[in-house]
Amino acid sequence: MATKKKRIPEETILHRKLLKLWKRGQSKLCEVRGSEIHGRGVYATEFIPKETQIIEYVGELIDKKESERRALALHAKSLKTGGAAVYIFTLSKTYDIDGDVPWNTARLINHSCDPNCEAWIVGRKIMIYSLRDIQEGEELSFDYGFDVDCYEDHPCRCGSDQCVGYIVSRQQWPELKERLEKRGKEVRVPLKTKK
Ligand SMILES: C[S@@+](CC[C@H](N)C(=O)[O-])C[C@H]1O[C@@H](n2cnc3c(N)ncnc32)[C@H](O)[C@@H]1O
Ligand SMILES: [Zn+2]
Repeated sequence: MATKKKRIPEETILHRKLLKLWKRGQSKLCEVRGSEIHGRGVYATEFIPKETQIIEYVGELIDKKESERRALALHAKSLKTGGAAVYIFTLSKTYDIDGDVPWNTARLINHSCDPNCEAWIVGRKIMIYSLRDIQEGEELSFDYGFDVDCYEDHPCRCGSDQCVGYIVSRQQWPELKERLEKRGKEVRVPLKTKK
């Protein structure tokens, strides 16, 4: 007698897919906690050696046009609510990743002017790697790489000794310094920028 194949219910398939997505956005090396920098942040749950792959930055794959539309909408919303604004990450010339999904733990990593992590593109994935040894309990951070043109929209509260006062890509610190000097504002940008 032929055995009848058991049909897997749609809900079970969906549940399995969601579980898979959820797992991709987690890592045993870190967890979410309240942050002194801003809102929630991500903290090391154990010692993490330099150049360790910590967690994937998961999200929705979107093209540049959709990315621009979402970025503008998020920015307008953040001006009204004062809430977090940016979850979109550059993946390639054609695509970005919108990490604004609840299972993307890495979206909660805050910016620092002296970061201990960096985002690397590995194939079609974005991975968060440690730039140096990270102690258990340390908050994870990376350089958001924001453009100097909108520095005033993004004051930095990373609290590091290196903090330049604004969330601006380290590469653009010399430009930031010039702009601050011209406007007679306090300049905390070091003369030489390391990298
Ligand atoms: C992708 S979210 C990071 C998670 C955020 N802490 C939260 O609870 O939603 C990015 C937002 O966090 C805030 N943020 C991140 N790093 C910051 C920093 N160094 N100084 C001030 N605000 C920061 C800014 O509002 C930024 O737009
Ligand atoms: Zn800072």
